[in-house]
Amino acid sequence: MSEPIELAYEERGSGPVTVLIHGFPLDRRMWIGQLAGLAKNRRCVAVDLRGHGLSKLDEKEPAFSMDLFADDVAKTMDELGADQADICGLSMGGYVAFAFLRRHPARVRSLILADTKAEADSDEAKAGREKTAAMVREQGMEALWDGLGAKLLASDPREEDVARLKEMFLAQDPAVIAADALAMRDRADSSPDLGGITVPVLWVQGEEDQLMPIDGARATAEKIPGAKFAGIPRGGHMAPMENPQATNDAILEFLGG
Ligand code: MLT
Repeated sequence: MSEPIELAYEERGSGPVTVLIHGFPLDRRMWIGQLAGLAKNRRCVAVDLRGHGLSKLDEKEPAFSMDLFADDVAKTMDELGADQADICGLSMGGYVAFAFLRRHPARVRSLILADTKAEADSDEAKAGREKTAAMVREQGMEALWDGLGAKLLASDPREEDVARLKEMFLAQDPAVIAADALAMRDRADSSPDLGGITVPVLWVQGEEDQLMPIDGARATAEKIPGAKFAGIPRGGHMAPMENPQATNDAILEFLGG
């Protein structure tokens, strides 16, 4: 297994650290609205997972796992001098957050889960990951955008969100995104962890999330003792980007104003 690395990141604000972990197939830039809105009372650190954004890798055939991504986050926190952080992850970033909680429980001050799920992939979903990996390797990011882009946003997306999302898609290395797909295929089931989570948890979910519908997310959040749940109006799978105000309000209330 590869060694953990320090990730590239963008930070804003001062105070207790909140780490923001992006989804698939994106990078730290999806959190711009949170960096701007949450930095009043937090040191917000939006990381680029290995291979993504500015965390470039010099590997032709990278191999990832949610555990490795989580250990990279821990290493980055070491470099930041942060023993603990609020760990916030969207979708694949949420899978990383669950892995982080399993591997580094003492370093989690609180957990913010956005548009994600706890279950592992079904056999059918695993086969889909392999198709995605092969398609991206053969046809590149444009093909993935054509199939997935519109599903990530609410029904009537702002042009600016479509453009930002597409820019992030097309900026990623297909080999890295193929490795993400296979790492998600192999991720652990986090459902058995839910009832034993003892840190404060906020779950935010776009009311119009097409990929991970809100009812399933709410049912999952209800299994976490004391978890707070916020539905984000006018938000799809990328709710923090699509409605940063409502997302930030929910997070700030959770973190204590
Ligand atoms: C994501 O947004 O990170 C992906 O939709 C996660 C997934 O495909 O399971």
